[in-house]
Amino acid sequence: MPMKTVLSIPGHEHPHPREVSLDEIRLTLGDCRLCPLWETRTNIVFGVGNPYARVVLVGEAPGANEDAQGIPFVGRAGALLDRVLEDCAGLHRSDVYIANVLKCRPPNNRDPKPDEVEVCSPYLREQIRSIWPDIIMTLGNPATHFILRTDLGITRLRGMVHKTGHFAVLPTFHPAAVLRDTHKLAELETDFRLLGQLVRGEVPLPAEQSVLNTQEE
Ligand code: URA
Repeated sequence: MPMKTVLSIPGHEHPHPREVSLDEIRLTLGDCRLCPLWETRTNIVFGVGNPYARVVLVGEAPGANEDAQGIPFVGRAGALLDRVLEDCAGLHRSDVYIANVLKCRPPNNRDPKPDEVEVCSPYLREQIRSIWPDIIMTLGNPATHFILRTDLGITRLRGMVHKTGHFAVLPTFHPAAVLRDTHKLAELETDFRLLGQLVRGEVPLPAEQSVLNTQEE
């Protein structure tokens, strides 16, 4: 099936920050059939949280629990995410906004395909433009690669605050990866503590744009 990148919100062809509401973006997404994932999904998982959040968390794609409920991060990885948000950053799920690069579950939780990212990611981009947070925390490689436009691995990028355009970007491990390898838990907690410090202004947001080498050495 040919796939094309389409996101056109009538009257908002070149939306400014916070000009288009999340509800309008959700309406535009409708019963999306831009890629074949619609055939196997139960629910579109649009996103959840505070439309005025200073922090947007970006995951990869819905899993089985998220597909069943239509809400991001409601399985075991979500429980860990809620725990580190609260214990390490001092934030509640309702303080932030949570969305994924893909809005539909890839079968068997396989990695997103580049053409799926291409057609789906305009919705995430518009969600971010609508909320216009100060900080984007990316969870795992696909989210980090999409937001920072780099191929560098998460292990190289995490633990640092990057800046792209208006946004401070804080990459960290995906909570599901931490559940698979608990050695990563301490680093996940460190990254969420840094998130809390950024939100409280104890660590300044970066002023300089990040320059990232897009080639792995
Ligand atoms: N993993 C993700 O990347 N997103 C979810 O919503 C759930 C699990």
